[in-house]
Amino acid sequence: MLNGKTIVLGITGGIAAYKAATLCSKLSQAGANVHVIMTKSATQFISELTLQTLSRNLVYTDTFDERDPEVVSHIHIADSADLVLIAPATANVLAKMAYGLADDMLSTTVLATMAPIMVAPAMNVHMYAHPAVQHNMELLRQRGVLFIEPGEGPLACGYTGKGRLEEPEQIVEQVQAFFNQSTTKKVGAALLETLAPVHDSAAELPLAGRTVLVTAGGTLERIDPVRYITNDSSGKMGFAVAEAARNMGAHVVVVAGQTQVDPPVGVELVRVESTQQMLEAVMARYEAVDVVVKAAAVADYRPVTQAAQKLKKTGERLVIEFERNPDILETLGRNKTHQLLIGFAAETEKLEEHARGKLQRKNCDLIVGNDVSRADAGFGSDNNEVHIYNKHGLLERIPLMSKGGVATRILQLAVAQMQAKAAQQKPVEQSARHDEVHAVE
Ligand code: CTP
Repeated sequence: MLNGKTIVLGITGGIAAYKAATLCSKLSQAGANVHVIMTKSATQFISELTLQTLSRNLVYTDTFDERDPEVVSHIHIADSADLVLIAPATANVLAKMAYGLADDMLSTTVLATMAPIMVAPAMNVHMYAHPAVQHNMELLRQRGVLFIEPGEGPLACGYTGKGRLEEPEQIVEQVQAFFNQSTTKKVGAALLETLAPVHDSAAELPLAGRTVLVTAGGTLERIDPVRYITNDSSGKMGFAVAEAARNMGAHVVVVAGQTQVDPPVGVELVRVESTQQMLEAVMARYEAVDVVVKAAAVADYRPVTQAAQKLKKTGERLVIEFERNPDILETLGRNKTHQLLIGFAAETEKLEEHARGKLQRKNCDLIVGNDVSRADAGFGSDNNEVHIYNKHGLLERIPLMSKGGVATRILQLAVAQMQAKAAQQKPVEQSARHDEVHAVE
């Protein structure tokens, strides 16, 4: 499936470097032409000869080791890549990439390439959670770098937690999925190009001075004091949007129901339980916000009555009657004044039809459609693949990538939409002012 693809595999110096041998072998077996670049530290963990044998190509470790006088190696290799994959990626290489350092063969190649870049971090759990590392990853996400999140489990350092390099088989699957969606490197490069202008044309922090309200997680409806119904939402997508909005300079308010992951730091967190509570929390803040992203999975129905005491077992069957909950997004749409409203549409079929129907019904500016029947995206997953629609139709299809990457792109489109709206309003405002002057005269 990777026939004809040139993959530059960057290996950096962590214990997980030994898994890079399996990864290299599997990529080659899948048909890819793999060119390995190792950092000096990586060579402490695994030999160049191993990678040379598995890739059947020369391995690069030194920027100045120019073997072909016809070309400059790091530029040549950067140009030839359909994908640059860095696995494992240490905290050090992430920092270098984030700040554009170029002091070895891998970092110079990464700066020189126009190909998409995919990174699979691996490190100690505390290093991974460190704000500096998280911040660097977010910067890279904003530039369109794709992340393969590390897994959780026992780590070589003795700790247990998040930081294990994703298994080589899974990484190959993600690489294949990437190429299935963006069939040539031009598509990848085009994606990066589309990411760049929105970010560059705005101020360094495009949401500075704006307030973004995000709903996250699933709402929960109580049946009795110890029982309830809810849904599978993990909160990852909503929290990713909140984090991305914070990094883009916004003041962020997160109204969260049930979640399975920690909320980002640096945001105002309002916890709610039921749909009614979420509605009230959101409406109380609506007037003061510029953008609303409704990523929560909201319970559409609630039990007609909530028993004050724990229900006792009685008959063979139990029938609980449910009644409709308010639709929060629809309410926001009806009361919209200046806000930009972004909804989500979780669908298992007819994605475009249903998503566009919801956009119209709920008076949204953008709707993010995702296919929740897929195992590798949607509920609970670290990744998502979405289609973003505006009132004219499909605005952008975002290939499978980390929820952080998807979140950043959604907000970039929101910024672009706000800029377009402001540009449209300007002449009207100017002509209104002009009329006022005439009226005074
Ligand atoms: N939503 C909401 N209030 C509800 C139901 C949904 O605010 N009572 C919002 C969700 O947060 C999401 C969007 O509406 O942004 C679409 O939610 P989804 O569950 O996909 O669709 P529904 O509107 O519930 O429609 P259906 O059940 O027919 O798919």
